[in-house]
Amino acid sequence: MPCQTSGELKLLVKEAKRYTKDGKVADYIPELGRANPDDLSIAIHYPDGRCISAGDIDKKITLQSISKVISLAFVLMDRGFSYVFERVGMEPTGDPFNSIAKLETMAPAKPLNPMINAGALVVTHMINGDSVEDRFHRLLGFIRELADDPAIGYCEKVARSEYETANLNRALCYFLKQHQIITEDVEELLDLYTKQCAIEMNCLDLGRIGMIFAMDGRDPLNGKQIMPEDVARICKTFMVTCGMYNASGEFAIKIGIPAKSGVSGGILGAVPGKFGIGIFGPALDEKGNSVAGIKLLELLSKNYKLSMF
Ligand code: DON
Repeated sequence: MPCQTSGELKLLVKEAKRYTKDGKVADYIPELGRANPDDLSIAIHYPDGRCISAGDIDKKITLQSISKVISLAFVLMDRGFSYVFERVGMEPTGDPFNSIAKLETMAPAKPLNPMINAGALVVTHMINGDSVEDRFHRLLGFIRELADDPAIGYCEKVARSEYETANLNRALCYFLKQHQIITEDVEELLDLYTKQCAIEMNCLDLGRIGMIFAMDGRDPLNGKQIMPEDVARICKTFMVTCGMYNASGEFAIKIGIPAKSGVSGGILGAVPGKFGIGIFGPALDEKGNSVAGIKLLELLSKNYKLSMF
């Protein structure tokens, strides 16, 4: 079903767009620095297949940290809860997404949660398979199923650009390897992780994935339970407590929707039982979240009383 342009959403986008000037596109991954900071688009995907949108929703974005919540779901299904949570914790950090600080003060050096980079690297390490290629394609297959879009792939340029410059993530990996939290070759893990972060899709796909989380892991359009209800519940809980990093508390108070951001400017939202949201607005605030995307979600949440609290 094609996505309908919505007049109401258009007005909200227009209002939120005023805030794009307060942000900056991420450039620590050089290829992401090419994005247009003025962009802002949204798609809302309902469980009955309807979709409404505003902005240029055909533009493709790389998932970046949004992939962390999907890889977590995948690994929970692959390995089971106890295996996963023996290696990565459940607590928010209050630190920036790429911080190394807490790792050194924790014993064992287990990352506090799967949404910060240290935790996400451990999660990616846990993806089963015979090779990086095989593990990546297993994850990609899951993502294609969630979005119901077999054409989803990854952007090689963005993956390479991150791989060549990811020295902080390399440092995190070596630290984790020293403490036996990860055991594989660091370059292989970074190859897989940067490809995972470079998986690319449009807001529509993003909104559809949000809808699956919102509907407790079930695809209401074909009746398939893509992930167990408990896995969807755990992922949504992490979205609330850690999905926007050290802005998660304020986001929960002002917006109250389980959401996950990425430095590409994407936000995946899941309004429990109602619908999924995909947003793209590459101008970021100082915490690495889409500045106008958050404003847009705030307007949406207030206007339609979407807060779950
Ligand atoms: O590992 C990184 O730094 C990026 N691939 C992802 C970080 C990210 O998206 C943080 N989000 N707001």
